[in-house]
Formats: sequence, structure tokens, C-alpha cells
Amino acid sequence: MSRFTEVTPRKGTRSVKWDMAEDLYQDKDILPMWVADMDFRIPDAVIQALEERVAHGIFGYTLPDNQLKEEVTGWLQHRHQWEIQPEWITYSPGVIPSLHMIIQSLTEESDHVLIQTPVYPPFYSVVEQHNRNLVKNPLVLENNQYTIDFKDFEDKIIDNHVQLFILCNPHNPVGRVWSKEELTKMSEICLKHNVKIVADEIHADLIFSEAKHIPIASLSNDISDQTVTCLSPTKTFNLAGLQVSYLVTANQELREKVEKQFKQQGMGMLNTLGITALEAAYSKGEEWLSELLETLENHRDYVAQRFHDETNAIQVIPAEGTYLLWLDCRNLGLTHTELKSFMQKEARIGLNDGASFGEEGEGFMRLNIAAPKKIIEEGVNRIIKAVENHS
Ligand SMILES: Cc1ncc(COP(=O)(O)O)c(C=O)c1O
Repeated sequence: MSRFTEVTPRKGTRSVKWDMAEDLYQDKDILPMWVADMDFRIPDAVIQALEERVAHGIFGYTLPDNQLKEEVTGWLQHRHQWEIQPEWITYSPGVIPSLHMIIQSLTEESDHVLIQTPVYPPFYSVVEQHNRNLVKNPLVLENNQYTIDFKDFEDKIIDNHVQLFILCNPHNPVGRVWSKEELTKMSEICLKHNVKIVADEIHADLIFSEAKHIPIASLSNDISDQTVTCLSPTKTFNLAGLQVSYLVTANQELREKVEKQFKQQGMGMLNTLGITALEAAYSKGEEWLSELLETLENHRDYVAQRFHDETNAIQVIPAEGTYLLWLDCRNLGLTHTELKSFMQKEARIGLNDGASFGEEGEGFMRLNIAAPKKIIEEGVNRIIKAVENHS
């Protein structure tokens, strides 16, 4: 059996997705399909590199050396045709910590920060926790497809004197991989009004066959000069627990400000095993990644087809990237509180609450399809059966 079809039990491994589910959903038979990590084992080459490192038996302070930077620059060049300099890289234990550092170092209290909603919940908290003001450019949903209202984007920037824009590309939870045209329009507006861009591109490698990820900073030198990009091997290779990620900033002044903030918070070190995993994944993980992408695309199409064929109460928003599907459940005719209770108590499936991504997410739920097909089938069966019993 392939590693993408085999079910590896995760209960009892302190897995947030599996071991917290019972408490959170108050049901020991809930099927957890929420948190954004995968139920797949990582590439053998990465397991082997970790085993060899563990066998060494000493885990002292560890240096992310030039070799590691070469792996990172090579990966971005090869996968995304983005040429960067090794000195543009700053390591970080995670994208969330990076967002905190960026907000603190590149904005002042009471500054305005723009986000595109519905969006990954920490985009709200990283802004609000540091007493900055959130400005929302809600995405527009038409004919089952999310797009950007560029007039609102620019108006909000002007009206609120926005200093910083946090871009999510590919977008969690709506699954859009923004096109070159969309990215160009957004960045031109940001350049015109001197708005810095923070690009959270953690899902950059998880792109389906019809789409292409374009790092916004790769569009031009001017845009690159105004952008900090957050990237990581952790979504791509299922390494979230190893806590390793990095920022790419061409602009030396911005980079120094962000790095100073990391130092002030005492965050200058990476996890030894994170370094080993990053190097092994980027140098030896590509075949696994191709297989993963094929699997995810198959799951995406399977879920969409099942809902399309068997119920019109739930529409699957077509995803161009990520392994997260955004389910439009508004045709069920339930209030959002009723919808949550329906998924939990009637379908007995643990999904992410759409409203946690912002008020635009009311009536929606997020489904994680990075699990063996058996689990995906079971999840879809549970939802469809509950819809049938409900109506
Ligand atoms: C858009 C986005 N950014 C950041 C993260 C988390 O990043 P990290 O685990 O590196 O803090 C996630 C995880 O789901 C995500 O979807």
C-alpha cells in the first residue's frame, strides 16, 4: 500500500488534530478533518535523515549553514522560478512567529493593516494583539469563485492610510492561487500608496495542475523591495511539529528591522531536527511531493463530484491549491450555530468552523483532504448521510 492510501493511526501521538478532537467536539467517535496538517507519512528520505541525526545522539545548538541556504535558494529557483540571494533568508520557527515579528517591527501601534477575508484566523490576532487596526477587503464570491474587489482594495488603503497588507497566497481557506494579473494589480496599488506587503506563501508548493504559484516578490524589483515573504517546508512535507520556516526579504532595511525584532524576542535558533528535515525534504522530497499533489487533486475532485452528484445543500468551492476545501453550506438553511452543531452532532465530523475565518465565513466549513482516501470517503459519507437524514 502506498503511503498515501495507508492509514497510520495518529491517536496517542499528541496530535492536535486527533488527540484534541474528543474534548473539542465532545464525541469520541468524531472524525477529525480540521487542523491543517496531513495524515500522511513524510518522504522516506526525510525519515532516514532524521533517524541518522537522532542516532548521533547529541542535540546541541545547531547552525543553519550555507549549505542549507543553497537548498532553500535552489528550491525557490527550481519550483517557482524565483531567483533570490542567500542573504535575503531569515530563519524562523514558524510563519505565525514571523507574522508577529513583522507586525511589531514594520508597523507602529494604531497603524492600519489590510487583510482579505475570510482568511486564516491568526491574520486577525497577530494584528489585534499588537494594537494595530484591522482593515478588511472582503473577497467577492460569485458563481462559486472568489475574486478581489480592487476598487475596495484601493479605497480601503487610501481611506485608512494602510501601512501593511498581509497577502495569503495560495489563499486559506478559499483555495485561490492568485493569478499574475491579480497579483500585479494588488502590488501596483501597494506601490502607488507605499504599502508594505507581507506575503504568507506557506502553501506555495501545494498547487493543482491547472494553476501556477507566482511569488508576489518575483514580479519586479520594486515589488520585491517592498515585500517580506514567509515560506516553509512544513505544509508541503507535513513537518509542522518540527517548527522550521524562513522569510525572504530583498530590502536590507526591512530585513534588518525584522531580524532585530527576532533577536529582541530571543529567537535566533532553529530546531536541530527541523534543519535536518528541511535539508532532506528540499533535496530529496520531490518525487514524494509529485505523488502527494496527484493524491490531493484526486481527493479534491472526488469530494466535489460526490457533493455535486448527491446533494445540492453543500457546494464545494473549487480549490486551485492547498489541501483545504471550503464548503458553502448555506443551502442547508441553518443558522451558523445550527450548522456547527449539525456537523458535530449529526455528521460527527470535526471541521474548522467557517466563522472563525471572519464573519464572511458564516454558513461555511473547512474540510481537510490531506488524509488517506478511506478517511475522505468516510467523511463525505458522514456529511451526505446527515444531510439526507436532516431533510
Ligand atoms: C496561511 C497559513 N499561514 C501560516 C500557517 C501556520 O504556520 P506555522 O505553523 O509555520 O506557524 C498556516 C497553517 O495552517 C496557514 O494556513
